Amino acid sequence: MAAYVRKLERRWLPRQGLGVTLVHEEEVREQLDSGELASYAVPGPWHLCTTSEPTAATRLFLAHVCEEQPGGSGGISHPRSPEGVNTRSGPGHILVDMTTTTRTNVPTLAETAQRMTGGGRGILAADESIKTMSARLEQAGVPASATARRDYRELLLTADGLSESVSGIILADETFGQQLDDGRSFPDAARELGILPGIKVDTGTTPLPGQGGALITEGLDGLGARLASYAERGAAFAKWRAVFDVPTITPYTAAVNGHALARYAALCQEHGIVPIVEPEVLCTGDHDLAASAQVTRLALGSVFAELDQAGVDLTGIVLKPNFVTPGLAASPATAQTVAAATFEVLRDTVPSAVPGIAFLSGGNATADVCEFLSELNAIPERPWQVTFSFGRALVSDALRIWAGDTVNVPAAQKALLDNCRSAANATR
Ligand code: G3H
Repeated sequence: MAAYVRKLERRWLPRQGLGVTLVHEEEVREQLDSGELASYAVPGPWHLCTTSEPTAATRLFLAHVCEEQPGGSGGISHPRSPEGVNTRSGPGHILVDMTTTTRTNVPTLAETAQRMTGGGRGILAADESIKTMSARLEQAGVPASATARRDYRELLLTADGLSESVSGIILADETFGQQLDDGRSFPDAARELGILPGIKVDTGTTPLPGQGGALITEGLDGLGARLASYAERGAAFAKWRAVFDVPTITPYTAAVNGHALARYAALCQEHGIVPIVEPEVLCTGDHDLAASAQVTRLALGSVFAELDQAGVDLTGIVLKPNFVTPGLAASPATAQTVAAATFEVLRDTVPSAVPGIAFLSGGNATADVCEFLSELNAIPERPWQVTFSFGRALVSDALRIWAGDTVNVPAAQKALLDNCRSAANATR
């Protein structure tokens, strides 16, 4: 038998004490057959069902059971279900622990998306790949290594009071599995600091054959299993970035990237993770504002058509687009112009069901993107929360000031906090 209990009837909910109920599959056959309880295959010889954060007593009990059963796993693994209930399969038994979690205290995707983008806070993007982060460290005079990358990310996360302006932090896979100096994992530490941990799950871009250099983002193979593992380790949200360039975008390249984003988003939601959907139109180049608007419109239109096809729940996503700006090598536009052009494109392409939009900075100056955000925030007919999910605009000063020297950590953290406060103020 391989069963996964999606709904738990009241009568199986916790007895006081250990909080574990052992039932035979046949006892719940009727509910399984009627669909009141649902099953799906998970690997392993047992079926254990417990909460995401079982009590210590429950953990002990489950470990004991696992060790004692012939063919048992000898340990407990907890792939997290969409509802935050953990499972392991086996022949004929279901163990249920609902003492610490019911569906009512697991935030919904919509609640998490609202928390990420509301309350006058935004998202810190600290998810540069090993290659990009190493290049940025070297540029700042810091020899690149796993330790240097960890130290730098620890500096960012532990800046005192970061959670006043930052609701979530996007981490790279390497950082997600690393520990702070005090031994806590990054995702655990983030949660303890009041910041939701997120994970970048795409594996980068590669040219699409025959498309003039246009790129496709990769990483769908095996993504379900990776998401299960990230969810188990505490990820609240994920990020996938599609990249469009003004000279190379076509309806085809927009559609295939939109398709990948939609498959990613649907998988995230299946694992109880809020997907950040990031279709980025690059700001590099000398294109004008109208070209940026046209291309952003094409990209967003394709993405939302694909999200719709994939059945993605729009109330449980966060959109991460670019601002509509002239290229970085063209004459700049005023913040009011950028905000108006951005709003016009978003109004026409982004359904109002989307709770929040968190912008990338795209290489624009910190002061500029904060002004864009502030102007956009002032548009009264805007249906979505707007905030930031900046990378460089928040962290570049901190990296330059730190330069790999512990003595500079307080000054680097102050620079980070100043930028995060400016960005957060632009959303209030
Ligand atoms: O994917 C892009 C990053 O998450 C945001 O970076 O603000 O430096 O463009 P950026």
